[in-house]
Amino acid sequence: MTIGIQRISFYTAPFYLDMSVFAQARGEDADKFHVGIGQDQMSVISPDEDIVTLAANAALPIVQEFDPQSFTAVLFATESGIDQSKSAGAFVHGLLGLSSRCRVVELKHACYAGTAALQMAVNMVRVNANERILVIAADVARYELGSPGEATQGCGAVAMLVSNQADVLAIEAGSGYYTEDVMDFWRPNYRDTALVDGKYSTMVYLTALKHAWQHFHESRALIYADFARFCYHLPFTKMAIKAHSRLMKLTGQEANEASIEQAMGASLKYNRTVGNSYSASLYFGLISLLENDVDDLAGQRIGLFSYGSGCVGEFFSGIVGTNYRQYLYTSQHQALLAARKELSFSEYLDFYKRFGEVERNDNIEISSYSRGHFRLSAIRAHKRQYVQNSSTE
Ligand code: HMG
Repeated sequence: MTIGIQRISFYTAPFYLDMSVFAQARGEDADKFHVGIGQDQMSVISPDEDIVTLAANAALPIVQEFDPQSFTAVLFATESGIDQSKSAGAFVHGLLGLSSRCRVVELKHACYAGTAALQMAVNMVRVNANERILVIAADVARYELGSPGEATQGCGAVAMLVSNQADVLAIEAGSGYYTEDVMDFWRPNYRDTALVDGKYSTMVYLTALKHAWQHFHESRALIYADFARFCYHLPFTKMAIKAHSRLMKLTGQEANEASIEQAMGASLKYNRTVGNSYSASLYFGLISLLENDVDDLAGQRIGLFSYGSGCVGEFFSGIVGTNYRQYLYTSQHQALLAARKELSFSEYLDFYKRFGEVERNDNIEISSYSRGHFRLSAIRAHKRQYVQNSSTE
């Protein structure tokens, strides 16, 4: 039985800010972002979207392909929670018309929770081969205006169907992991933006990678050369290049631009335009690799490094399915990215402000901006109301 990802789909907001426009408005050299950070654009969430609509929109192609009654669980990973009690997955369960015989739970550990959910799902299938689990990672990366983190915002969701039919990626047993109680990035309950010690966070990321790899290498008889490509958690794409260069040195490889580029393949392409999507970002990288790499990766081993501030790091591996390309939603994803609307800097500021107001207020009607299938229409008596977008009905 090969257990793993049977389908994988993403959704991001249909609006973006170009990093050259951002640089000009903030009085910075555009190359700081295009080259130094490695980002060309960032997706900007509109006031009528949140993790629920991002997640439901991401999962829709999978639910449309299979019987909605066939899913046995929804494991929802996020650090942009909309409620302290009710799982965002319960809203998604309702919007997608899933069976009442389907468990739902929300998981959190910064950007790592998507991987925790995926590994839990794999183990649930190992125990019961009839499980068909929707793992959804959805986040809105939001930092204070004018802070160094502002350039590394973004939003998006990835939905994966995990089952005993790993058409896309079989997840191999045995990973390496590392945990340390640190304050590199956090968001207290009273804030809607994250606090971060930026430079320190990049150092902790690299430390977690080193230890997770060492644990992986000790537990599995695998070496660097056993991997065709590597995917990383992507707060910004330059972080992955730094991480991979560190891994190459650790394993005695010669790290140069060409060897790093070869190992990363097309895994950075989508994230350069979407920005950070926290728990979903590693999986945006995986989709980007599978949908855009020039080489046929069928049967090849991919190394994946997941990092969540606070911190937990996990290095694990998967084998790409024989006919994986036919199971991807490549054309839908590329059409979604191509149809995004560019925002001016003042429109970006307006969306930023209004998104914050929606998160803080009750009894509000929310205008329609999004072009996704589902949107947030109002909050009444402290209850969020979601509707199907009239343009997509
Ligand atoms: P900063 O201080 O504004 O940027 O913030 P900088 O001055 O360090 O410049 C960035 C890079 O651009 C530097 O390169 C500069 O040299 C270069 P580096 O030294 O790093 O190789 N640069 C230029 N390059 C070309 N042309 C130019 C130019 N100017 C400068 N003209 C920072 C950068 C990442 C700290 C900030 O954006 C930040 O705080 N971001 C948020 C934190 C973050 O993303 N951390 C990543 C690791 S933690 C993580 O991944 C977890 C996370 O996703 C959350 C979670 O787990 O939930 C964040």
